[in-house]
Amino acid sequence: AFPGDLPRILLDWYDIHAREMPWRTGPADREAGVLPDPYRVWLSEIMLQQTTVVTVRDYFARFVARWPTVADLAAAEDAEVMGEWAGLGYYARARNLLKCARAVVERHGGNFPADHDSLLALPGIGPYTAAAVSSIAFDLQRTVLDGNVERVMARLHDIHTPLPAAKPELMARAKELTPAHRPGDYAQAVMDLGATICTPRSPACGICPWRDPCAARAEGTAPLLPKKTPK
Ligand code: ADE
Repeated sequence: AFPGDLPRILLDWYDIHAREMPWRTGPADREAGVLPDPYRVWLSEIMLQQTTVVTVRDYFARFVARWPTVADLAAAEDAEVMGEWAGLGYYARARNLLKCARAVVERHGGNFPADHDSLLALPGIGPYTAAAVSSIAFDLQRTVLDGNVERVMARLHDIHTPLPAAKPELMARAKELTPAHRPGDYAQAVMDLGATICTPRSPACGICPWRDPCAARAEGTAPLLPKKTPK
């Protein structure tokens, strides 16, 4: 495969295998170019930061049922939100969640801003969340780097430099692959690939859409990557 084909190969795979999640649009909306609600994307990304997809589903459903928009959440009492958050842990995240919702109402009239710098300026939004929201909810060509993306990039390019030293190189590799077309679906496709096929211990290389271009697959090193500097 030519390097330029890699995103398209992965998006073709995603169109068939995308995991259904309540904050994502479905296949028909994706086909029509309909983007997911920024509030839902932001809320899910904050919840997913230290919590699994399985656990987040139920919390997410309760939050959006009770507070369907960011303005609704901004108007909630602190104690109500902390009560719904109970069990997710990392309570600083819940406090920042409310601060952020209120800032979106005060600074942006209740609409999440699309641009990366305005997103970064909001409470609790760092580079990861800003990139996730701007790509997934606004179709901007931003690169999301989480543990899944790091693992997939380390294997695709057979990078043996241990983490965390390898981060800049992994980010550079992730950036050069991020497509201008459907960057948000692409970001979520890499995450799904990392979660379902390019898994930490026993990657299912035989069914991977990137098996041909994968350097670690050719070298037999996939299960060993990424390397980590011992603590
Ligand atoms: N983990 C964090 N964000 C995610 C997303 N949008 N899809 C799948 N896994 C994720």
